Amino acid sequence: MIILSIETSCDETGISILKATGGNKRPSFSILADTLASQVEIHAPYGGVYPMLAKREHIKNLPILLEKVLKKTKLNKKDKPVDLIAVTSGPGLEPALWTGIVFAKELAKKWNVPIIPVNHMEGHILSVFSKKKSFTIPKTKFPTLSLLVSGGHTELVLAKDWLKYEVIGETLDDAAGEAFDKVARMLSLSYPGGPEISKLAESARQQEKQASEGVRSATGARFQKFSSKKISYPKKLSFSYSLPRPMLYSKNFDFSFSGLKTAVLYLIKKIELKEKLNENIKRAIALEFENAVVETLIYKTKKAIEKYKIKTLIVAGGVSANQHLKKEIKKTFNKKIQVLFPAKKLATDNSIMIGIAGYMQYMKKKKKVPNPIKIKAEGGLRL
Ligand code: KG4
Ligand code: ZN
Repeated sequence: MIILSIETSCDETGISILKATGGNKRPSFSILADTLASQVEIHAPYGGVYPMLAKREHIKNLPILLEKVLKKTKLNKKDKPVDLIAVTSGPGLEPALWTGIVFAKELAKKWNVPIIPVNHMEGHILSVFSKKKSFTIPKTKFPTLSLLVSGGHTELVLAKDWLKYEVIGETLDDAAGEAFDKVARMLSLSYPGGPEISKLAESARQQEKQASEGVRSATGARFQKFSSKKISYPKKLSFSYSLPRPMLYSKNFDFSFSGLKTAVLYLIKKIELKEKLNENIKRAIALEFENAVVETLIYKTKKAIEKYKIKTLIVAGGVSANQHLKKEIKKTFNKKIQVLFPAKKLATDNSIMIGIAGYMQYMKKKKKVPNPIKIKAEGGLRL
């Protein structure tokens, strides 16, 4: 069957066309066309997503992207180009979600096809399987645990089978991505802050590494009696800070990143009493902040893996693009259980993941879909 999938929950407008086969037993997909219009530059001056601007941009982008995917697949020549429309119904920004839903309803009416509403977080979970143009959802060892880390969410989700979810932990305040974005703003970095902080932290990490390797080789060089060359090696970072690892001692699997963000704010205020934030100070703060987030995420994930005897770990959502998180998670869990991350392009919001989740839900529900009139945007929709 041919599926048109639509994503408008935040600041990315996405439309894809997927060919899906195999039903519940062996769901397989081919991506026939995929488009994404990012609004990052429009929201950057505000340091975050501005819902009404997002809505305006989605309304502008949707017809353009639709034309592109229909043209690419040559389905524009048919009266009924697709068999099913999958659209994100939540969670997300309601004005933004409505644009996709209204658009889906108009198309469904015009083409006389069903609509399946999709939970955006379920899309993120299933995004890890789309590595190539064609792919099959493999036999997965259950139970799985999904660490979902995005701009709006930080959740640990247990699943005993596909599409049967239980949220066992979540953030009590800011999401991990949100904390990255807010701390980036404090450091006068651009939006979205995650990749910017990550770049600074990585360069600080590299400097620390080279410095300690340099010290080692310099110490070795003392024994080179006749060496006339002067030895120069990279200096260690001139600044180092210490930030809290929040909620490590709570017995549940919940997170909290707002205290960590406030700790960064106080740290910056304290530094600024003495000196201006220079590049080196920013790098040291970014390093400590990223370490604090990653250590906290891994600590709770490890506890949940042990308690629920998890066989497969899925890490998804925008923050899963973070290279340090990826490296540390692989180092901690890879030899013990299966660990799955999305391809870089699919870590952040996209419509491919909505098509996958839409088909799997449609098959699970034996093709029963809600009356389109009843489909509405649900900003706080839960798994
Ligand atoms: O999943 P996503 O695209 O949108 C939501 O559903 O929220 O996630 C966006 C979030 C932003 O907060 C962004 O700063 C963060 O993902 N992000 C990162 C990285 N790339 C994106 N955070 C840390 N490191 C990254 N490399
Ligand atoms: Zn998302």
